[in-house]
Amino acid sequence: MDKKPIGVFDSGIGGLTVLKEIMEQLPGEDIVYFGDTARIPYGTRSKEVVIKYFFQSVRFLLTKGIKAIVVACNTASALAMEEAQKEFDIPIIGVIEPGAKAAVAATKNSIIGVIGTEGTINSNAYQSTIRKLLPSAEIIGIPCPLFVPIVEEGWESTDVAYITAKKYLLELKEHNVDSLVLGCTHYPPLRYTIQKVLGDNVTLVNPAYETAKAAKRVLQDMNLISGRLEGGKCDYFVSDDPEKFKRIGGNILRRQITSIEKVEIENL
Ligand code: DGL
Repeated sequence: MDKKPIGVFDSGIGGLTVLKEIMEQLPGEDIVYFGDTARIPYGTRSKEVVIKYFFQSVRFLLTKGIKAIVVACNTASALAMEEAQKEFDIPIIGVIEPGAKAAVAATKNSIIGVIGTEGTINSNAYQSTIRKLLPSAEIIGIPCPLFVPIVEEGWESTDVAYITAKKYLLELKEHNVDSLVLGCTHYPPLRYTIQKVLGDNVTLVNPAYETAKAAKRVLQDMNLISGRLEGGKCDYFVSDDPEKFKRIGGNILRRQITSIEKVEIENL
């Protein structure tokens, strides 16, 4: 048994979709969430910069006495996990493997699409993990960089989102994909628009649920579970204005964000 909190990281607000799942599946765990809102997006940055930013974020979370860390950010999971596992002596759970497993479970024709930031797609992290699980898979990876600002602007259900999705996703239709990994924390709010473009026969895979399940399994296996069945609390930290995060985040979580603080991350 270990009552210390779990750290949850994202480059911003999108990781709250993963946090929500963790809260549902592990309601007795205390959590510390850090969103690197001052330095989002990670998705267009080089591997070196993503590693630097992510390591600083982990160092901050470690000051809060966390027992494990869930990397809710796809880009950091894709580009910095291996290095982080070497650098930090703490269980680190990313979104790539759980998302890949969910996609393999969902596909019937073994033609799988993956969408994400440029960093995530160009790293081939999802593609190679899926291929390990299902060697016969045909995988089509498409970076969709404009989806992040569209969601940040709250435009996920507008014509702009629909036209952009059509432009990015047409290729997936041509390849006849039957399952699509939403490989970026910002994409779940676009699921209705994406589904409209691809049609109902394509299963959209959100790695959040599987990631929370994987985190639970790791904590149980390592005997790190808190032992409480309810009453876990979450403290939030961000590197930019907490007010915007509080407002938008509250909507995503469907609960009020009360404890939130801005932190200086640059010097860690
Ligand atoms: N959190 C990032 C991801 O899941 C999306 C936003 C960004 O580019 O930082 O890849």
